[in-house]
Amino acid sequence: MTLPRNQTQVPRWIIAAIILVNLFLLIPPVIVARARYSVSREPRIHVFPDMDSQKKFKAQSANPLFADGRGMRLPVPGTVARGELRADEHYYWGTVEGKWAVSFPAQVTVNNELLDRGRDRFAIYCTPCHGLSGHGDGMVQRRTEFADYGAWAIGDLTAEKALAYPIGQVFNIISYGINTMPPYGSQVPVEDRWALVSWVKTLQASQSVNITSLPAEVQQRLEASRPQEVEEPKGTGDGEKGGSAGPEEGK
Ligand code: HEC
Repeated sequence: MTLPRNQTQVPRWIIAAIILVNLFLLIPPVIVARARYSVSREPRIHVFPDMDSQKKFKAQSANPLFADGRGMRLPVPGTVARGELRADEHYYWGTVEGKWAVSFPAQVTVNNELLDRGRDRFAIYCTPCHGLSGHGDGMVQRRTEFADYGAWAIGDLTAEKALAYPIGQVFNIISYGINTMPPYGSQVPVEDRWALVSWVKTLQASQSVNITSLPAEVQQRLEASRPQEVEEPKGTGDGEKGGSAGPEEGK
């Protein structure tokens, strides 16, 4: 078939080129589609890295620059972080010239507000072990009585041994722990720890108060709440089985 003279045919090479270009255009979408479903350990292609990845020593890594080879450095001895100076030994350690303080530090005013705060903190941090009255009969203690590993000797805060601790030592025990008691310094701020000391001393004092030393109004209230003398209920029948089953029941 012959074409009319004024009509020209598109040269074959142009058609071939168009087909070829179209085929090449298919390559990027194929790569993208593949990347979406394949797994790679290599980081993504990062055209503008900004400051996303930097050369640095990560925690616990080695650093040959230092003699001990450690990447993590300790603060220079004597370094004090802002607001972390603990120079006031009375306030922060409970000692005065290396001996247990026997009074509250100047920063602490002992008033009802402090006692209320102390009672509040005591209920949160200490009652699980020491109990509300400080007798060492908190839930933790009661639970260990039923455990296989035996009871845990939790100090009675109102016993003679604890009474003998000076104020500063009680503060120190709360802050840094004692024997099997964990420290609470990292959880309870220092002013609250002094409030706790005031409450521990209050609990201790509460165990041996002469009623006549109290205000008349309080005396009356206490007298009114004094339980009436009641006769021991007589056992029913054989007597041996009287009374409650006690803690044995919980076993
Ligand atoms: C996880 C349980 C636990 C908690 C919570 C706890 N303690 Fe103790 N505490 C103990 C044990 C156990 C001892 C006895 C340590 C020993 O063997 O000397 C003790 C002893 C003490 C003593 C010394 C008494 C003595 O007889 O030697 C004081 C004071 C004291 N605790 C105050 C506190 C205060 C205040 C809190 C609350 C901030 C507190 N504890 C919270 C377990 C606890």
